[in-house]
Amino acid sequence: MRKIAVFSSGNGTNAENLIEFFKSSPSAEVKLLVTNNSKAGVIGRGKRRGIPVFIFPKDYFLDGEKLAKWLISNHIDLIVLAGFLLKIPPALIKAFDERIVNIHPSLLPKYGGKGMFGDHVHKAVIDAGDHESGITIHLVNEEYDKGEILAQFSIPVLGLKDSKLLAQKIHELEHKNFPVVVSDYLQRKFVA
Ligand code: GAR
Repeated sequence: MRKIAVFSSGNGTNAENLIEFFKSSPSAEVKLLVTNNSKAGVIGRGKRRGIPVFIFPKDYFLDGEKLAKWLISNHIDLIVLAGFLLKIPPALIKAFDERIVNIHPSLLPKYGGKGMFGDHVHKAVIDAGDHESGITIHLVNEEYDKGEILAQFSIPVLGLKDSKLLAQKIHELEHKNFPVVVSDYLQRKFVA
């Protein structure tokens, strides 16, 4: 059984959706959740689903070696970033080379990089008058939102003016596709 650690800084709907999806998987499970935010909604979601949640201060995340050792001691095969807002330190990227997957709520390379998360992205899409937006699921490397793209999915933005409505549509797209792409990647990485 492959073991997944999900990192989240906020509400955690994607984290919860991943937990549910992998409950019926014969080959992988969400073993634990990690957050840097002691007020994050993901904490309650994990507890309700019976998954241990670990809250670490920001300093702990900056020490990538300590974090990598801890994840390895928990037999983690894959790290999934689901709304995690801290930059991943180089030592962790090295220890989990091609084994960190992120979801971003835009069609990268558009609207990526530092400071581009959640509602900031959706507002930028609406302000630019784009006709479509979407999600990108990609591997994590040293540069923000620049790792190899595993999959992208798009939706029309049309005349949408409300970034909250766009966020809701993007979340629906994420919930439908993110677990499937993670599952396919695990197969490709560990079975093929
Ligand atoms: C998701 O839309 C995810 O794509 C985004 O944060 C949201 C988390 O929602 N991630 C980023 O913006 C990363 N740059 P959730 O907490 O409900 O899963």
